[in-house]
Amino acid sequence: MSRLKNKVAVVTGASKGIGAGIAKGLAAEGASVVVNYASSKEGADKVVAEIKAKGGKAVAVQGDVAKAADVERLFAETKKAFGRLDVLVNNAGVYEFAPIGDVTEKHFHRLFDTNVLGPILATREAAKYLGEGGSVINVGSVAATSGPATSAVYSATKGALDSVTRALANELGPKKIRVNSINPGPVETEGVHAAGFMGSDFLKGAIAQTPLGRIGQPEDFGPIAVFLASEESGWLTGETLLASGGLR
Ligand SMILES: NC(=O)c1ccc[n+]([C@@H]2O[C@H](COP(=O)([O-])OP(=O)(O)OC[C@H]3O[C@@H](n4cnc5c(N)ncnc54)[C@H](OP(=O)(O)O)[C@@H]3O)[C@@H](O)[C@H]2O)c1
Repeated sequence: MSRLKNKVAVVTGASKGIGAGIAKGLAAEGASVVVNYASSKEGADKVVAEIKAKGGKAVAVQGDVAKAADVERLFAETKKAFGRLDVLVNNAGVYEFAPIGDVTEKHFHRLFDTNVLGPILATREAAKYLGEGGSVINVGSVAATSGPATSAVYSATKGALDSVTRALANELGPKKIRVNSINPGPVETEGVHAAGFMGSDFLKGAIAQTPLGRIGQPEDFGPIAVFLASEESGWLTGETLLASGGLR
């Protein structure tokens, strides 16, 4: 399949989880993919190797999305590797839940720096390279609207990201660059395992309220990202697309 033939995509936080699923999905449709990571070089190299084994093109580039210098380097490396940029997926994110009594400035800034400042810095830089037909895809969360208990800061980052999606859609629309968001419900990723969510009452409750009756998998997000990256979604911008098996 080649719906993204000759397109170049940067996927932030693609060394594992949803980002890895999206990177592989975009590559399977012919996009050359930059697999960004913060610290998991091994994970990023594995994603690149899987893409190449299927005949795709990919490179791994380290960079902390919350650091402007790293983000500038990420896009300079992209240009060097593939010569252009068509798609940015702002997926890198951290989640930490904390009861309000345990919320600290450190917790607040860690989450806001990665989940909100990161996509803003990456889009600022990407906008220098993207041309007509460019697509920015943010990865938000159902938490922006559902606001589960103990997620005040995390949910706030994703609510802020929805606002960023709408504002940048307005700002970049005249340049024919679209900005949309994929907002997942719970997804079985390395991060969710590390946070101890698997098997929790919280997750069981979420699955019980999910019409399609299961937790999401990283592979669910490749086709959705392909749709938002391609001209098939050419009349959509500023949309926040709930991708949660129906969980609201
Ligand atoms: N899983 C869910 O249930 C769920 C639900 C709704 C929304 N989301 C959102 O989906 C996105 C991905 O979640 P996930 O569950 O796939 O996460 P994950 O398994 O924890 O993976 C996170 C990825 O982001 C990268 N990353 C973290 N901080 C970074 C930084 N400062 N700069 C660059 N990369 C960074 C990590 O790189 P390293 O490995 O190198 O650190 C890793 O590749 C997040 O935005 C999350 O909020 C997830």
